Amino acid sequence: MLNSIMNIFAFVFCSAFLVSLVCGFSRNLPILSFDEGYSQLFGDANLMVLRDGKSVHISLDDRTGSGFVSQEVYLHGYFSASIKLPADYTAGVVVAFYMSNGDMYEKNHDEIDFEFLGNIRGKDWRIQTNIYGNGSTSIGREERYGLWFDPSEDFHQYSILWTENLIIFYVDNVPIREIKRTETMGGDFPSKPMSLYATIWDGSDWATNGGKYRVSYKYAPYIAEFSDFVLHGCAVDPIEHSKCDDAPKFASIPSGMTHQQRTKMSSFRNKYMQYSYCYDRSRYKTPPSECTIDTKEAERLRGFDPVTFGGVHRRHSKRHHRIGSARAGSSSF
Ligand SMILES: *[C@@H]1O[C@H](CO)[C@@H](O)[C@H](O)[C@H]1NC(C)=O
Repeated sequence: MLNSIMNIFAFVFCSAFLVSLVCGFSRNLPILSFDEGYSQLFGDANLMVLRDGKSVHISLDDRTGSGFVSQEVYLHGYFSASIKLPADYTAGVVVAFYMSNGDMYEKNHDEIDFEFLGNIRGKDWRIQTNIYGNGSTSIGREERYGLWFDPSEDFHQYSILWTENLIIFYVDNVPIREIKRTETMGGDFPSKPMSLYATIWDGSDWATNGGKYRVSYKYAPYIAEFSDFVLHGCAVDPIEHSKCDDAPKFASIPSGMTHQQRTKMSSFRNKYMQYSYCYDRSRYKTPPSECTIDTKEAERLRGFDPVTFGGVHRRHSKRHHRIGSARAGSSSF
């Protein structure tokens, strides 16, 4: 009984918190030091906290990758880090910045992912987003994009806004993807408390052209740098799901999306999106229910990969991927 009252309390509280998510807007969110927000997850000396305590290096070499995890578990919030990726030859290398509760729910976990896929020298990193809800691993909801900058040249901010009914991915405060919970998605929308993770690892088997280019340890260590940690979420007790820490901290948080941001998102997608599960006819004969088909997006994707995105029968055994750099043209959108 007490437990259920606590749950109701948590629900009401978190709902109020969500209203402030959508209504309030301020970028003055507290930036945490590494030790305030995170702990090392694996990789021994391949994780290095820098002297100011506010940035960290994680690296991959022939012995191990490395990673870190938030000390708290969160139900909704705004989560962000500035990341600088390793340069030059990075094929097979994966850097991930994501939320998950896979350690607590083996069979029905939730996940919200930013994944950075390394590339051969001279080719750009690609960035992938995805979600799973309640163990929906049979339906991948991946999207992949190019970027309007070289993510290995400087720090850029990658952020996740997660509310009860909405997930937005941002790059440098530009929304690049919005996922709205729909009735038919059911449990597929992430809904249980999750931790934040950042990892670097050997993804030789799939990261670059489906495993064609593997990690070369000749170029190791591969170092990814993280800083500007924002963990602005509703921290809950992982077992009881029963409380949000420290209400005043959540007074200011990014909103849903303004009209202007929506316009930016749509021009980003029309210029830089290289893959979306919603348009992948070789994988989903009918798109999963939450997909809304944007004719401009569809046309563009079909343009550079008619087999995957157009339902055209394959004539040759080889796919004609022409997904290269989507960077041509101006960087304003
Ligand atoms: C999530 O998965 C569990 C276990 O498979 C199931 O009992 C529950 O009904 C699911 N919840 C939703 C919202 O689909």
